[in-house]
Amino acid sequence: MILYFSATGNCKYVAQQIALAVNDDAVSILDTAASDASAVTGIISPAYAWGIPSIVENYLKCNKISKKNNYLFFAATYGTSPGQSHYFANKTLKNTSGIEFDAYYSVKMPDTWTPVFNLSDKNKVAAINADAEPEIKTILAMIRERRRGNYMAHRLPAIARIVYRPYYHHMRQTKKFIVRDTCTGCGLCALKCPIQAIEIRKNRPVWIKDRCVMCLGCLHRCPEFAIQYGSCTQKHGQYRNPHVSV
Ligand SMILES: Cc1cc2nc3c(=O)[nH]c(=O)nc-3n(C[C@H](O)[C@H](O)[C@H](O)COP(=O)(O)O)c2cc1C
Ligand code: SF4
Ligand code: SF4
Repeated sequence: MILYFSATGNCKYVAQQIALAVNDDAVSILDTAASDASAVTGIISPAYAWGIPSIVENYLKCNKISKKNNYLFFAATYGTSPGQSHYFANKTLKNTSGIEFDAYYSVKMPDTWTPVFNLSDKNKVAAINADAEPEIKTILAMIRERRRGNYMAHRLPAIARIVYRPYYHHMRQTKKFIVRDTCTGCGLCALKCPIQAIEIRKNRPVWIKDRCVMCLGCLHRCPEFAIQYGSCTQKHGQYRNPHVSV
């Protein structure tokens, strides 16, 4: 089982491509079927704040993974640098399950942290996704060969580890979400939030937790693009991977 977490589809797409190549299943971490940790052969996660999303860390903390077929890999999709995401994934895996990943891979894809990165130019976004295709093909060939080692591109030196926890903690504050008047109260944001951080009250989303995963799935999936985070996301556009539904 290739396990993934994906808010906007990049990791879902990569997981599906790998699963197809190695004749395995791609399963979302949110799917109850994912609780069979003994079947996990690889984990695909977005890089968040040069580390991993809280939901992936929690999965690794709460599930004992055993190495089916004696090979386990970690792959990060990322926009600018996967930082030290391999380190945090491995550390958590080792603490809980007493084993380590055999290989690490990465795929550069559109950067969904749109409070900073601009995804409004559809041609540029399409070009990034086109460039990801040969990268995906390369890593799936390496996974088929059961390569061992760290093949992540653009990762940062170990010193970058000090950034992850404070920066991600800061990023995860829900108080910066804004809802524009174009919201129709459809409820999709609340329905799809992976940790039920949103409730619909008087036809508007309300964040009921101070901090969330900050996957930005609510912002990127809203049919009206009514959810914003800070002052830049509106001009930076919405993104969903074109190959999968999320
Ligand atoms: C909260 C947050 C933090 C992020 N941090 C990083 C990062 O540290 N480095 C990076 O290259 N991309 C970062 N990204 C971009 C995502 O890792 C990237 O777009 C990923 O492909 C999204 O995967 P998904 O479409 O499966 O959700 C971040 C995105 C979010 C929402
Ligand atoms: S998905 Fe968008 S339109 Fe629907 S309730 Fe949420 S914010 Fe409003
Ligand atoms: S509130 Fe939005 S950003 Fe936070 S976890 Fe839920 S869907 Fe993701």
